[in-house]
Amino acid sequence: MPDLPMKYSIITYGCQMNKADSDLMAALLDRRGWQPAETRDEANLVVLNTCSVRERPEHKVYSVLGELRRWKLSRPEAVLAVSGCMAQHAGEHILARAPHVDIVIGTHQFHHIAELAERAARGERPILDVATDQDPSGSRCREGEAVATAPLRAFVPVIRGCSSFCSYCIVPHVRGPEASRPPEDVEAEVRSLVRQGTREVTLLGQNVLAYGRDLAKGPTFDQLLARLENMSGLWRIRFTTCHPRDVTEDLVEAIARLSKVCEHIHLPIQAGTDRLLEEMNRGYTAEHYLDLVDRLRSRVPNIAISTDIMVGFPGETEQEFEESLQLYERIRFDSAFTFAYSPRPHTAAADRTDQIPRKARLERLGRLIERQNRITLEANQRQVGEEAELLVDGTAHHGEGLLSGRTRTNKQVLFSADAHLIGTLVTARLTQAHLWGFMGELV
Ligand code: SAH
Ligand code: SF4
Ligand code: F3S
Repeated sequence: MPDLPMKYSIITYGCQMNKADSDLMAALLDRRGWQPAETRDEANLVVLNTCSVRERPEHKVYSVLGELRRWKLSRPEAVLAVSGCMAQHAGEHILARAPHVDIVIGTHQFHHIAELAERAARGERPILDVATDQDPSGSRCREGEAVATAPLRAFVPVIRGCSSFCSYCIVPHVRGPEASRPPEDVEAEVRSLVRQGTREVTLLGQNVLAYGRDLAKGPTFDQLLARLENMSGLWRIRFTTCHPRDVTEDLVEAIARLSKVCEHIHLPIQAGTDRLLEEMNRGYTAEHYLDLVDRLRSRVPNIAISTDIMVGFPGETEQEFEESLQLYERIRFDSAFTFAYSPRPHTAAADRTDQIPRKARLERLGRLIERQNRITLEANQRQVGEEAELLVDGTAHHGEGLLSGRTRTNKQVLFSADAHLIGTLVTARLTQAHLWGFMGELV
């Protein structure tokens, strides 16, 4: 970018993997001399890192692209890029619908962002790069190298892509097959982060439990956890997401035995009847899931279990929906992300003729949320009076003078204390339960 200040702004939609990809793009841009812009007006490169998992975030992207037309008109040399899952599957369409976009860069190529931005700035535009040669090794830092920002709690992708092909899901189509990072790469990145102040890492994958299967002499995921357990300066290890089909006895043992591995598992159930699970191609039954929950709870006392639930999958009857609700009542999840099914291109379920009308999907979603909110609140209420270890991660967004911390079970606690405690481990008593977490008191 010869004549313009090299300032960038990245807008991120979607999951934690997308957020991690944005962090990686930022680190790579920083390395090439770019700086984060304070405001969008100051930026000469805007990247929209997009999500395709449901219809709504895609509409949002087109509306933001519309808003950015003015920004682009007032500085024609600046570069507008679209990356992420939507870029991967709708690249040509984005360029046709929003001709002011300069770069469309897919989920396998996003680590070339700096080079492409410079080419586009020199006038080579538009650029469409949605090639699918998978390179999972992109890393924000190599051994010993400084990172611009080492957050207290960092997210580290360990496996990219997904080979599961759940019948409703676009992710395998936009992210490609599973590709694990070599364990040495993961360790090197975590070590650099820890050296610069990170104390908690969350290992990321669409299914982290598939880790290592595609490596010639790869460790399994529980073995990767064991390797990281020994790293001094690292206090807590989390991981997400886990496919229920792939939870092994060794994983349960690792959570129970390894002291840094936190007592929380995100275990998306999606639906609660065997027929729906089968049609979704999930590879487990309701009974298998219940058995997993029992094993986890008996081996890891106080483990928190969170989940993803989808309602309104094609053909879902009212009775099946009710049966699923009953299963969720039995399991009593600590929390759940809940979604109404949204038909996605390339997926098997989208072609089915027994789609549930939108109104009915949203109505079921409302009922599910109401039930789950009650369960979440009751689960939290049962913990009032207990003491919990918190990693203090900052000041509360609301509430004068309050600090915010997370329990090992990944619940938020707000409490009153001096800001010098940020970045430390403290013990708090839980005094009041809410849907979002707890109010507490230092002990
Ligand atoms: N890899 C993760 C899921 C990533 S997508 C896993 O398998 O657990 C996050 C969640 O979005 C999914 O768990 C599912 O509940 C939801 N989701 C995926 N496809 C969807 C669709 N077509 N419509 C609605 N929700 C969907
Ligand atoms: Fe999608 Fe299923 Fe893969 Fe999760 S495991 S990303 S829901 S295909
Ligand atoms: Fe969305 Fe892609 Fe993540 S579709 S949920 S950003 S993997």
